[in-house]
Amino acid sequence: MDAITALHNRVSSPLLKEPAPSPEQLEILLKAAMRAPDHKMLKPWRFIIIEGQGRERFGELLAEAAQAKDPQINDDALIKARNKPLRAPIIIVSIACFSEHPKVPEVEQLITAGAAANNIVTAAFALGLGAYWRTGSPAYDETVKQGLGLTNNEEITGFIYLGTPDGRNRRLPESDTSECSSYWPG
Ligand SMILES: Cc1cc2nc3c(=O)[nH]c(=O)nc-3n(C[C@H](O)[C@H](O)[C@H](O)COP(=O)(O)O)c2cc1C
Repeated sequence: MDAITALHNRVSSPLLKEPAPSPEQLEILLKAAMRAPDHKMLKPWRFIIIEGQGRERFGELLAEAAQAKDPQINDDALIKARNKPLRAPIIIVSIACFSEHPKVPEVEQLITAGAAANNIVTAAFALGLGAYWRTGSPAYDETVKQGLGLTNNEEITGFIYLGTPDGRNRRLPESDTSECSSYWPG
């Protein structure tokens, strides 16, 4: 699929099944991430890949975080937290890594890290893969961040669920660019 077709038509895939992206496809996605616009080339990103049984370990971490947050949590909610990572064959945890720079404030580094994550979901769509970018409370949870080995200068920008789309992509309405653009000075 060419770049403009992918950019104009990308949709998320809420339901994902096997097969997982191949190692070659994962490499393509990560290379796409690394071409995000990046002021001073700080590379303020890193990615953790969770697959196979790693997803079960990650589910345990999510359950532990949920219990730490709410010691009264019921079994159903714990099971729900534990099963979340099993919704896709592979998850890429997208991380923003901040450093001090006199010309590049943190907000710009966060934008770049977000653009890198966006390149992953768009490249996935272009390859015919399914992707779903999620955050939710686990993205901001200290237990989760520690369990994944994040440092104090890092933040999770997303859990990108990846696999084969299960079902057809939803139909998109035509985009009306006049909704979001104007000419200045008129
Ligand atoms: C930073 C970020 C975090 C998101 N977190 C969630 C989330 O936790 N749960 C969710 O259902 N969608 C989340 N989304 C939105 C979905 O990824 C998706 O973009 C949205 O459902 C619209 O669908 P579409 O991508 O097919 O247009 C998030 C998107 C971004 C950019």
